[in-house]
Amino acid sequence: MEHIRNLIKLAITCLFLFRNNYLIQVCATTTPSDATTLQTLLKGWQITSLNWNDGDPCGSQWQGVTCDQSTNTQVITLTLSGVGLQGVISPDIGNLSNLLALDLSFNPNLTGPLPNGLGKLSKLQTLNLQSCSFIGSIPAEIGSLKGLRSLTLNRNQLSGEIPPSLGKLTNVTLFDLSENKLSSIIPVSSGNNENVGLDNLTLATSLYLQNNSLSGALPLEICYLPNLVNLFLNGNNLSGSLPSDISQLQAIQILKLNENEFEGKIPVELNNLTTLYQLDLGGNRFNGTIPNLSNLQQLKLLRLSMNKFQPQLVPKWIGNLSMLQTLELNGDHFAGNVPFQLFNLPSLETLSLDGNRLNGTLTINSVANSLYYVSLQDNNIVNVTGLNLSNPISISLTGNPLCSNMSYDLVAKACSTMNIFSSWKATLTSCNISCGKDMALGLDCTCSFPLMFLVQFSAPSFSTINFSRINNLRVSLANHLMVSISGIWIGSANFTQDYQLVVDVHIFPYGSISFTQKKVADIMNQLSLQSFLLDEFGPYQIKSVILPPSTIYMAPTKKKSISTNGLIGVWVGVAAGLFILIGVSMYALWQKRRADKAEVTGKFFASWGPVPESGDTVQIKGARHFSILELKRATNNFSNSKEIGSGGYGKVYKGALPTGQVIAIKRAQAGSLQGTAEFKNEIELLSRVHHKNLVNLLGFCCDKGEQMLVYEYMPNGTLREHIFDHIEALTWQKRLEIALGSAKGLAYLHDLADPAIIHRDIKSANILLDEKFIAKVADFGLSKLAPVGERAHADGHISTQVKGTLGYLDPEYYMTQKLTEKSDVYSFGVVLLELITARPPIEKGAYIVRLMRDAWIEGDMVKVKSLLDPSLGSYSMRDMESLLNLSLCLVEESAVLRPSMSEVVRVLEKILSRISSSKTDDNHPAWAQNDGSRNHANDLYNDLGALSSSMEASFRFSRGFDMSAKDEPK
Ligand SMILES: *[C@@H]1O[C@H](CO)[C@@H](O)[C@H](O)[C@H]1NC(C)=O
Ligand SMILES: *[C@@H]1O[C@H](CO)[C@@H](O)[C@H](O)[C@H]1NC(C)=O
Ligand SMILES: *[C@@H]1O[C@H](CO)[C@@H](O)[C@H](O)[C@H]1NC(C)=O
Repeated sequence: MEHIRNLIKLAITCLFLFRNNYLIQVCATTTPSDATTLQTLLKGWQITSLNWNDGDPCGSQWQGVTCDQSTNTQVITLTLSGVGLQGVISPDIGNLSNLLALDLSFNPNLTGPLPNGLGKLSKLQTLNLQSCSFIGSIPAEIGSLKGLRSLTLNRNQLSGEIPPSLGKLTNVTLFDLSENKLSSIIPVSSGNNENVGLDNLTLATSLYLQNNSLSGALPLEICYLPNLVNLFLNGNNLSGSLPSDISQLQAIQILKLNENEFEGKIPVELNNLTTLYQLDLGGNRFNGTIPNLSNLQQLKLLRLSMNKFQPQLVPKWIGNLSMLQTLELNGDHFAGNVPFQLFNLPSLETLSLDGNRLNGTLTINSVANSLYYVSLQDNNIVNVTGLNLSNPISISLTGNPLCSNMSYDLVAKACSTMNIFSSWKATLTSCNISCGKDMALGLDCTCSFPLMFLVQFSAPSFSTINFSRINNLRVSLANHLMVSISGIWIGSANFTQDYQLVVDVHIFPYGSISFTQKKVADIMNQLSLQSFLLDEFGPYQIKSVILPPSTIYMAPTKKKSISTNGLIGVWVGVAAGLFILIGVSMYALWQKRRADKAEVTGKFFASWGPVPESGDTVQIKGARHFSILELKRATNNFSNSKEIGSGGYGKVYKGALPTGQVIAIKRAQAGSLQGTAEFKNEIELLSRVHHKNLVNLLGFCCDKGEQMLVYEYMPNGTLREHIFDHIEALTWQKRLEIALGSAKGLAYLHDLADPAIIHRDIKSANILLDEKFIAKVADFGLSKLAPVGERAHADGHISTQVKGTLGYLDPEYYMTQKLTEKSDVYSFGVVLLELITARPPIEKGAYIVRLMRDAWIEGDMVKVKSLLDPSLGSYSMRDMESLLNLSLCLVEESAVLRPSMSEVVRVLEKILSRISSSKTDDNHPAWAQNDGSRNHANDLYNDLGALSSSMEASFRFSRGFDMSAKDEPK
């Protein structure tokens, strides 16, 4: 009886396929020992959500199990990352003798010791057990996994010593035991019987042992690992002096020895490590003087803080490390002056020299553009020269004699305390949608199941964070993980005190509800094994992960009722086979139809030829094709009375469709400058982007050599018309709302459109107003896609022939022909100035940007007021200051100093929220009644600090505050 039941089971796990008109039977029967072992493993894990109760592991495709392709009988990978396993690993795991990859990572309730049996998995190439709760010591048997390429046991509770036998893993490139409780020494080949140790890991590129309790010296043998790129030993109890052999690390890029107990002099031989780009020796007991390391020309981060150096001058050679982005020399007994060269280091972002004995006068005559934070707290500095209110850097000199000098008039700028660690937080899109359980709202305002994780970049090469870096990260992640960039949402990014960066990433299955299990496993696998590097973000570890539940809990497959008659089972199989066959042919047919259809559309675009004038409309990506007849009817044969505008492109007509819908038709003139290419460009662009603050394209017409675009009609015309004809109609609040609306539209184009779009012709004539005066950005005729790939590079830009409108044109773009999103930001700044002055950008040869900037910087409030639109109505002075600050930041000559559009959105939102909340509050006197001498420092700090945690922007916005501070003594 038992026998028959097994036979039936066998029949059920068979699959019947038609191949070359023969019915063939493919039966999967997993090797009994593999099948039993999996069952044993399952018993150790209290998990009910796996589909491991039915059928055969290989035949029924158990979750996380793959079998060899040729026979489909041997289990070759077991991947159960982040599925919520609890309990322990059965020692029997060693019986899965064909296993190539074992991944049980990110199961925080998986505990117990690592079984010795792991050492029997002789074919294993990947052993990934990171981020669980394993205890006990690492079995020496793991050293017999000769084929292993990556060993990741990081983020567990493993203790005891590192078995020297792990040195036998000579094929390992990634070796990560970090964040455990490992103690004792770093084992090397000399000094043990087997003559093997970590110095035998000759292929290793990354050796991560940080944050354990390792002690003893840094063995000089380690310095001869020829391929080592990343050596992380920080956060241990290592002691002794650094061997001069350290200069033998010929491939090294990141050397982190910080937070240990190393002592003695820093060996001068470090100067030979010319490949090094990060050197962190902070938090040790190094003494003596700092050797000359001026050969380290690739160095981006140098941290020597908190050592026991003898009093010395800040070495001048540091001023020649031209790649340096972060320099931290806190608490190191430096005396004398701060060499002014440090401020000129062309890439420096953070300079921290707190707690030294630096004295004299600080000279800040010219400051590199990149410099954001200068911290010199608790020194003996008595004066500063060259610092003026327009320096964009944030400087902190608290705890210096200068700051208790009552007559020093820059106290507010120079002596506030600040946190030098910048952070970044996403603005939330307001979609007014609530999502179901475990779902989240994506950038496109749809709900789906995201994959969420915190990733910790252990050594980014930079030390400040801003929007463009965040965006680069999105682009890199999208490219490497092969997901849509619109599906990558970065919630926050925070620097830790030791320059690590923790980033909250959500990956949405953009365009669908849920990722497949396979895709999630693939993403997790790539990230947890660091299969790719994310440019300047460098090495990383996944700190925690939340997988979409829909991919963890596979619905249990419904058991078919099994007849006792085996034959019926076979017939069910045959029927299924036939069914599949029919399905396949139908699918093929459907595919062919689809292909045919696609071909029609493709041809249509290729030749741009005539399209039948019948009622048969062609749909292209959401934009409808209108026949010329339809449009003639709608506009009374394009009668002059229907004309509502004209421009270089041609004329714009108002029309009505038979449905009653009012439309605007943009009709290109014969010989118009815009060619076919632009026309197609505009249709393609416009039909792809949809946002409340972008004019919606309804369709197009291309019959008989015509080029027409059909838009929704905007009853209130262009912003330009309002500014120059009836600006009074626009209250202060309305103007701000218009500004915010158009800023949102632009931010969408820059950040959320995929690929990003640079408008290139932002001006008041291209901002339209609907019946409720909601602003909508129009006219993408000149739009240019932002280069997705190149944007990942430092100076991502496109060079093209300069286009745009005089008066709105970004001077940097004009000079360099490098087009970036920041060119739109400039033009938008000009629009803001138009909104508050009601003047055209260029009036009687005078440039409004320059007039306003000069008046504002000089603090000439009479002049500023004279430039403002007299019909602004009542507004608070504080809001006007904020808006002027903002506008002038947007029109900074240098593009890097301008904030991004999303930052602009945040500032405008803040100002508007204040207006709405202070509607009844008379405490804010109107500008007209104020003499302009009030110090708004705190207001502005609160204001801007809160707006944009990207401090880059907020500190650069502080010009207004500077000005009022300067006014004070008068
Ligand atoms: C781990 O176990 C605890 C206690 O049983 C439980 O609350 C928690 O949800 C579990 N975590 C996971 C990821 O399964
Ligand atoms: C190490 O890797 C090489 C190249 O992939 C391979 O040929 C060799 O068999 C591996 N060594 C062992 C012991 O598996
Ligand atoms: C380990 O490396 C050392 C030094 O290169 C060498 O002498 C020793 O033979 C190696 N051990 C093994 C087991 O290969």
